[in-house]
Amino acid sequence: MKKSLLLYSVIIAILLLAAFDKVEKDADKPTFIPPSEQRTGDPAKGYQYLITGDFIKSGIPYDFFIFANGKGKNLLNRDGKNANVDQGYNVVTNSDSMDIVIPTCLQCHSEVMEGKLYVGLGNSFADFTNIGQNAKRASMLNMWKTTAPKKYNAVKDLLQSISIINPQIETEVIGVNPADRLAALLVAHRYPQTLRWSDSALLDVPETVIPTDVPAWWLLKKKNAMFYSGLGRGDFSKFLMMSNLLTVSDSSEAHEVDSHFSDVLAYIRSLQPPPYPYPVDKELAEKGKLVFNNTCLGCHGSYGDDGKYPNLLIPGSIVKTDSLLFKANQQGTQFIDWFNKSWFAQGAYPARIAPSDGYVAPPLDGVWITAPYLHNGSVPTIAAVLNSKLRPQYWSRDITNAKYDYSHLGWVYETHDRPDGKKVYNTTLPGYGNYGHYFGDKLSDDERLAVIEYLKTL
Ligand code: HEC
Ligand code: HEC
Repeated sequence: MKKSLLLYSVIIAILLLAAFDKVEKDADKPTFIPPSEQRTGDPAKGYQYLITGDFIKSGIPYDFFIFANGKGKNLLNRDGKNANVDQGYNVVTNSDSMDIVIPTCLQCHSEVMEGKLYVGLGNSFADFTNIGQNAKRASMLNMWKTTAPKKYNAVKDLLQSISIINPQIETEVIGVNPADRLAALLVAHRYPQTLRWSDSALLDVPETVIPTDVPAWWLLKKKNAMFYSGLGRGDFSKFLMMSNLLTVSDSSEAHEVDSHFSDVLAYIRSLQPPPYPYPVDKELAEKGKLVFNNTCLGCHGSYGDDGKYPNLLIPGSIVKTDSLLFKANQQGTQFIDWFNKSWFAQGAYPARIAPSDGYVAPPLDGVWITAPYLHNGSVPTIAAVLNSKLRPQYWSRDITNAKYDYSHLGWVYETHDRPDGKKVYNTTLPGYGNYGHYFGDKLSDDERLAVIEYLKTL
């Protein structure tokens, strides 16, 4: 009896030890992100809704917008009043039959590069460094409250949220995006079930504005989780419409808007990356493919007709890039709790948030055009992603006339020896770090050149 008890406890102790060992090891291993079911939709309808739809219902009266800003460029080739505003705005008719101008996804999810508009390419030129000032200027429109009630009615929900949010999402440099904090603020000022607005924040909003790059839309079709840290799980369409929280009046409006977003998702998933526009050295690319398949494929997948994408979340301890973003998503559970009990997590197509301890190894389709690189856009070229010694501490582009470097794949940049205003990317700031992802360092210069040639073909 005693003997077998002893034996049992020894076995149990061994099992426990083995289990602990496993937990410890798992924490330091890439983990597979399982797929979740997605709604299907009509891509053509989704595109029309994106570039003409009223997913935001409050905006600036059209006549006033044109008076104040002049006419924009018609890069989307739209008709009617939409032809007179830039690609980042839609002109829609509100419930008072007034034409209003609303900001859209394409403010952040389209970029004009060397004169050409790419829908779905993250906008690395958006300037959020002074956006609090814009809100101050817009607040002058409050005067319409007495002088022009219909106009006031059109803009009041937008004014209400941007007056509180904009001053809190300013970034340190031009080109990085504050969407992470924007989402936290939008959520903090809304009740989770009704989605009604609250002037005071209902949650503690994290203090720092964490900078991110904007991922290309054409990658989403391969991904099992949304966002750099893979926190977006379940129904993707729900996440897509989160910017509706800017002005949504309540959950019945959200429900109506949501009914269009399966089409928007279908559109986003139909997008293809733009092909590299210059000749590729096929022989060199073939050599690069071999090196890539040995060194990079395990995380980033294989390409071509029988390509496979592994959908792996790589822990911070392995990828070693700036951890502020994924750590912020773990800090405190308020934001996660809000989301997971909110309107977004309910109904027939629930979404949910799962915090992680690292970043998704992204698919590299069309990566030649998506500079700057890493989740915070801290590295200007792929050549520097693959050789950490080349990464500049302080760097800038000519923002108004930026040139692309088709051999190193990325922006033509200038290095500086110290921080210098909002046009110079400063990698020493918290969240702006350019360290980590040292996987290319062990390759020879020739191997790196070959890998770059191969990446042009993806
Ligand atoms: C203020 C800028 C901004 C606006 C407006 C915006 N987004 Fe985003 N979006 C981002 C940023 C930044 C990310 C990456 C955030 C992260 O992963 O932490 C992102 C992520 C995404 C992703 C996930 C991509 C991936 O591969 O994980 C999709 C899809 C997306 N946005 C669609 C939309 C749609 C649709 C709209 C409009 C209804 C929209 N976004 C509005 C900035 C914006
Ligand atoms: C252990 C997994 C792993 C390996 C091996 C790996 N990567 Fe990555 N890679 C990642 C992760 C994770 C990221 C995202 C890091 C971040 O944004 O902070 C990334 C990001 C990148 C990016 C930037 C993408 C963008 O749009 O910003 C490029 C380019 C890249 N990897 C290329 C390579 C190449 C080429 C190799 C092989 C030499 C390689 N990687 C090896 C995990 C890996």
